[in-house]
Amino acid sequence: MSGVPTGRDSFGSRFGVIAATAGSAIGLGNIWRFPYVVGENGGGAFLIIYLAFVVAIGLPVMMSEFIIGRSSQRNAFGAFKKLAPGKPWFVVGLMGVTAAFMIMAFYTAVAGWTLEYIYLSFVNGFEGKSAAELSSMFDQFRSGSMRPLIWFFVFMGLTALIIVSGVKNGIEKYTKILMPVLVLILIVLCVRSVTLQGAGGGLSFLFKPDFSKITAKTILEALGQAFFSLSIGMGTLITYSSYIQKKENLGSTALSVAFADTMIAILAGVAIFPAVFAFGIEPGSGEGLVYITLPNIFQQMAGGYFFSVLFFLLLGVAALTSTISVLEVIVAYFVEELNMNRKKATWAATISVSVLGFMCALSWAGMKDVKLFGKNVFELLDFTSANILLPLGGLLIVLFVGWYLGNKRTKAELSNDGELKVSYFKPFMLVVKFIAPIAIALVFLQQIGLLGF
Ligand code: TRP
Repeated sequence: MSGVPTGRDSFGSRFGVIAATAGSAIGLGNIWRFPYVVGENGGGAFLIIYLAFVVAIGLPVMMSEFIIGRSSQRNAFGAFKKLAPGKPWFVVGLMGVTAAFMIMAFYTAVAGWTLEYIYLSFVNGFEGKSAAELSSMFDQFRSGSMRPLIWFFVFMGLTALIIVSGVKNGIEKYTKILMPVLVLILIVLCVRSVTLQGAGGGLSFLFKPDFSKITAKTILEALGQAFFSLSIGMGTLITYSSYIQKKENLGSTALSVAFADTMIAILAGVAIFPAVFAFGIEPGSGEGLVYITLPNIFQQMAGGYFFSVLFFLLLGVAALTSTISVLEVIVAYFVEELNMNRKKATWAATISVSVLGFMCALSWAGMKDVKLFGKNVFELLDFTSANILLPLGGLLIVLFVGWYLGNKRTKAELSNDGELKVSYFKPFMLVVKFIAPIAIALVFLQQIGLLGF
């Protein structure tokens, strides 16, 4: 039985809800992944497709998670059990909790790299190094030592410390401080980057669409990136919205969060590409973009020491407000479904994630020969969660709201039982019933090779 405690914890203020939820959405996905995916997919044209997906599919999926979470007031698994008793929908929740373990493991490993790079920035560790040296420095760090593992544990510990204090006194309290800090740092970095000589090339790369670069793969990548960046498809937002009070407006909250997430991704592009072009570097440098390319730029740039410390701090802060949202999925599940107290649940979640995390952190070192389908553990978890579990979860979530919950219950939740006007209701239902499921299904089938285009 799910022994749900009475007097469930909740977010205390509207700003708290937005800070926490935007904090979840805004993360390594915006600052580390978005710029290099844009770089590899040709810039501006990719950006337009990405924006279309955020509005047409991302936003409705986000609202669907909000509806499920707030109406049930349960964790990702319990929510489906409560709303659809005796039906197999709880499987969607189980998939979400599974995805949370996977994402937490590889994501915290990358978050750990940022700690190494904060440290390197402080000790001026990039000074005088050539691009090749910086690249081998990154490789050696990942492959040659236990440091990725140590940093993984440090980051995991930080996340657990915040989570153990609860929703209002932990998640909300810290994200309310960390998110404004993040925005400030990012603005400082943008100003520096666009005032570099030769910055214009980077801006036109980011904003001038070249549609000849668009392929089926680009479209796919855009949807995958939208899901990952918005934190949708696995119940993070079901869990967070279960802490949103009944008086809040779910539609406008989702809109603010999606807008903030997109703005930060674009700003990260504005902070990075002008600098990349000003120093004559190839924009499609892949996952090493922020760990290899940027240090190279920082050490050639006036004030580079200061800006590199700021940049890696920014990355660490963004990652932390996201790791807490993923760990919370597991902790809320342990508390409500396995009847643990919060402290015990946090310990249990941290330790079990660490087993997988251990393999991710050492995926280029001691664990590099553990491979499946040619992918190491890190790549395997990244691929399975981001490209399979998230789209599949998102598909089932919109189907659940569109076809199982149906018009009446959905409208009641979106309108706070008739108190708010929901003029967008009809198009919303059209999207969750038909458009989003078809779009997600097409992209997904294409991805796993069942559609031949
Ligand atoms: N959205 C975060 C980012 O952009 C990562 C993240 C947090 C996430 N929670 C998630 C991704 C849930 C997918 C699902 O970095």
